[in-house]
Amino acid sequence: MADHRTIKPEGGVGGIVIKDDWPGYRMDLFTYPEHYSEDLECVYLPHGIIMDRTERLARNIMDDLGDHDIVVLCVLKGGYQFCADLVEYIKTLSRNSNKSLLMRVDFIRLKSYLNDQSTEHLHIVGAEDLSVLNGKNVLIVEAIVDTGKTMKALLKHVETFRPKMVKVAGLLVKRVANGVGSLPDYVGFEIPNRFVVGYALDYNEYFRDLNHICVISERGKIKYKI
Ligand code: HPA
Ligand code: MG
Repeated sequence: MADHRTIKPEGGVGGIVIKDDWPGYRMDLFTYPEHYSEDLECVYLPHGIIMDRTERLARNIMDDLGDHDIVVLCVLKGGYQFCADLVEYIKTLSRNSNKSLLMRVDFIRLKSYLNDQSTEHLHIVGAEDLSVLNGKNVLIVEAIVDTGKTMKALLKHVETFRPKMVKVAGLLVKRVANGVGSLPDYVGFEIPNRFVVGYALDYNEYFRDLNHICVISERGKIKYKI
């Protein structure tokens, strides 16, 4: 039913490619919460470029789905900021075009990370009744996809509710050696395999209050370890 790509095609997964040697920007070139001053190594993706790329993804989504009614399924917690901004851009585009897109927003909460390591289990720790997805066009909105295993498991779960169509928007896709799972249809950025935080992405629940996507420092990892 769903037509997600499961293997990385030649030339990457789509989106803006951040190369392995990208050093990021020095922290002092930007503003960020003072309480994180020792905990971050660099600004990897400034807030502005995240917003600009999200605006373009919204346009691609409108071009493809603008004539349908859709259910946006936001993957919490990390996806909340991306989802909110993406939905805002889609709303603006919809208002300013002759396409009138009826959009519902639902939420699902997943957890698979402890410290900076993926745990084996996908926990669906909170979900509304997903039977609303039955027969609908669903857009799953996720902040980050690495191995794709979580996405694969989530797709399998979503498909049990028999949606008409499922598309996935992922802000970040990590280049990982063992990427075997599902890839998003809409990709913001393809990034190296580094642990990033900010723009709602967390390390043990910290750093969600950071606008930029940053690389956490060793000191930060130790300070917030559990
Ligand atoms: N940062 C935050 N959460 C994550 C990441 C990451 O790099 N990868 C998977 N979940
Ligand atoms: Mg997390």
